[in-house]
Amino acid sequence: MDEPIVKTIGLKKYFRAGKSGLLNRIFRQEPPLVKAVDNVSIEVQSGEVLGLVGESGCGKTTLGRLISTLETPTDGEIFFTGQKVTRGNWKAIRRQLQMVFQNPYESLDPRQSIKSIVTEPLLKLGFSKAEREAQFEKVMSAVGLDQNFAQRRPKDLSGGQRQRVAVARSIVSTPKFIVLDEPTSALDASVQSQVLNLLVGLRNDFNFSYIVITHNIAVARFISDRIATMYAGQVVELGPTDMVLKDPKHPYTQALLKSVPTLEIKRVEPPHGEVPSLINLPSGCRFHTRCPYVMEKCKTQDPEMRKVGDVNVACWLY
Ligand SMILES: Nc1ncnc2c1ncn2[C@@H]1O[C@H](COP(=O)(O)OP(=O)(O)OP(=O)(O)O)[C@@H](O)[C@H]1O
Ligand SMILES: [Mg+2]
Repeated sequence: MDEPIVKTIGLKKYFRAGKSGLLNRIFRQEPPLVKAVDNVSIEVQSGEVLGLVGESGCGKTTLGRLISTLETPTDGEIFFTGQKVTRGNWKAIRRQLQMVFQNPYESLDPRQSIKSIVTEPLLKLGFSKAEREAQFEKVMSAVGLDQNFAQRRPKDLSGGQRQRVAVARSIVSTPKFIVLDEPTSALDASVQSQVLNLLVGLRNDFNFSYIVITHNIAVARFISDRIATMYAGQVVELGPTDMVLKDPKHPYTQALLKSVPTLEIKRVEPPHGEVPSLINLPSGCRFHTRCPYVMEKCKTQDPEMRKVGDVNVACWLY
C-alpha cells in the first residue's frame, strides 16, 4: 500500500490553562495543563475521507489544527506522505494542506472581497494575477457560486454561500489534504446537504483526502469512508464507517449512537454523566466514570488501541 497521506504517532497537545497569576508566580507554580490531545496515532490514506466525531471539548479542533501544522505538538510525530514534519520543513508541507475553520462567520475576513478571500492562499504562494484570476473562476464554478460574487463581502452572503467560499478558498491552491472543521453545523438542513454533496463531488473530481470534524453522526456517515471516535483527548475507536455504525465496539461509540436512533441530521446528545475535565483526567480508561461495563482494571489501566476485526478500539472488553 502507498504511504498514508497523513499519519500521526503518539500526538499530544497540552495547553496551559489561563495565565500564570501572581500567586502561581510567588509559589513558582505553573497553571494546570489541559490535555487537549493525548497520545493520538491515526492514519489517513490517499483519497480517503475520515470522519472525526465526539462531544464538544474532546479535542477535535486541536487535533485538526495539529495535523494542519497550525499548532506545534507538545509531543509525538506527524508524517505527511511519508515525510516527517519538522521545524525545518513545516512551511513547505503547510502549502499542501488546508483547513476550513469551524465558524464560517468568524473565519472569513469581513473587510475583504470574496475574490481576495478565495485567492489569498495563491497570493501567499506567489501566483501571478492572471493565474489567480483563472484559478478563481475555476473554483467558484466548482463550488457552484456565481463569478458576480467576486467584489461582494462576506456579510452580503448567506450561511451556505459563505461555507462555499470557505471551501473554495481551501481548494484553490489544489492541496493534497484538507481538514474541514464542522463544515455544515452552522447551516440549515437543506443547505447542509447541498454543502455535503459539494464535498463528495469535489472529492470525486479532484481526489482530495480529508478529515471532516463533526458532532453529527449522520454527517459522518454520509461523507466518510472511516470514522474515528474521540473521547477526552484520545481516539478510542477507528474503523470503516458501516462497521463502526452497525456494530460499534467501544462503549462510548455505542452510547453516542444510541442517542441518534434515526440517524437523521441532528445534533448528537452526549451519553449520561459528566465529561471529564481535561485538566484532571480519570485514572485508567478515561471513559470508566461513565461506562456501563466498567471493570476494576479499567479504573487503573489505560487501554491501548488494538485491532478487533477491521476496527481499532481502545477498551478492556476486547
Ligand atoms: N489555545 C488554547 N489554550 C488553552 N486551552 C485550549 C486552547 N485550545 C483549545 N483548548 C482547550 O482544549 C480542549 C479541546 O478543545 P477543542 O477546541 O479541540 O475541542 P473540540 O472537540 O473541537 O470542541 P467543539 O466540539 O466544542 O468544537 C478544550 O478544553 C479547550 O478549552
Ligand atoms: Mg471544535
